[in-house]
Amino acid sequence: MKAWICEAFGEEPKLIDWADPVPGPGQVVIDVTACGVNFADTLILQGKYQKRPDGPFSPGFEISGTIRAVGEGVNQFSIGDPVMALPDWGGFAGCVIADASLVIPLPNEVDFFDAAAFQIAYGTSWFGLKYRANVQSGDLVLVHGAAGGVGLTAVECAKLLGATVIATAGGADKCQIAKDHGADHVIDYKVENIRDRVREIATGLGRPKGVDVVYDPVGGDVFDQSLRCVAPGARMLLIGFASGSVPQIPANILLVKNVTAIGFYFGAYLEQNPDITQQGMAELLALLREGKIKPLISATYPLSGAMSALDAIRDRSATGKLVINCRNE
Ligand SMILES: NC(=O)c1ccc[n+]([C@@H]2O[C@H](COP(=O)([O-])OP(=O)(O)OC[C@H]3O[C@@H](n4cnc5c(N)ncnc54)[C@H](OP(=O)(O)O)[C@@H]3O)[C@@H](O)[C@H]2O)c1
Repeated sequence: MKAWICEAFGEEPKLIDWADPVPGPGQVVIDVTACGVNFADTLILQGKYQKRPDGPFSPGFEISGTIRAVGEGVNQFSIGDPVMALPDWGGFAGCVIADASLVIPLPNEVDFFDAAAFQIAYGTSWFGLKYRANVQSGDLVLVHGAAGGVGLTAVECAKLLGATVIATAGGADKCQIAKDHGADHVIDYKVENIRDRVREIATGLGRPKGVDVVYDPVGGDVFDQSLRCVAPGARMLLIGFASGSVPQIPANILLVKNVTAIGFYFGAYLEQNPDITQQGMAELLALLREGKIKPLISATYPLSGAMSALDAIRDRSATGKLVINCRNE
């Protein structure tokens, strides 16, 4: 197969011929049709992601494709079955190995590209907002990075849960995307101060104390400003640090305002909560099948163009999801 192989953290991957993986017990090998691109792909290449492969590896955490081979003890899949999966890494390639327990049959109504773009972004937002931050109808939710991969889905998921959404993004075009996907109010944080504008909007909504929930994939100054416009009892969902700056939380503010900071890492949550995972994934697949959610795929790239997709993530020109067409070398 062809695969983008990174030999050592910090080195640019190369597209080369690589041996097809062989499934071990409980594993399957999948011919990759499409692979969603994530900010975390840029991190794993630097050795800065939670998971660090031991040897040469390909990036790529969320894929769709067809079963190519099954390992010992795998009875639920046959060769040729269309599936989607969250492998540890390895999706920027012709085929990938995955634990069969983390592979999901692809519903008839869902195409391969939507499946590859759907899992991590909607999974993170749905499970984070519904099951960790307990978002309720009527909550006022502040979503940062709202035109990005996870941020845009957070806008949609919060709306589905009945919240009023204030979305922030850098630039008028990105704000418009968030608005088009349901945000009730938008703040361009390139030109507006988040804390002041949130307070203004919340006051206009009769909620002068601030927002109930913050969804933050950006961190840094964005987090610091959020902490200053939350209502007493607010929940702050820590999703990621795209700004490159990990916030240091002043515990006195949490204490005085009875605010809860909630960490959420989707990958670990899936492993730690198998029952909720089944329920939440079934809910998401139903929403997808019914057309109530649909990933915004702003660009697709041939396998050879995968590094351009990563560049678009790094320079912040990406919106929604980028997808690699792994059948088109
Ligand atoms: N906790 C989890 O389970 C989980 C799951 C998925 C992703 N994440 C994390 O969430 C964050 C976003 O991931 P994603 O895949 O949605 O990425 P993405 O599509 O690239 O979106 C990131 C957004 O962050 C904003 N941003 C602010 N400063 C940035 C910077 N210095 N460089 C790049 N973007 C910057 C950008 O919006 P503006 O230009 O509008 O500022 C961009 O749209 C990452 O930190 C990722 O690791 C966490």
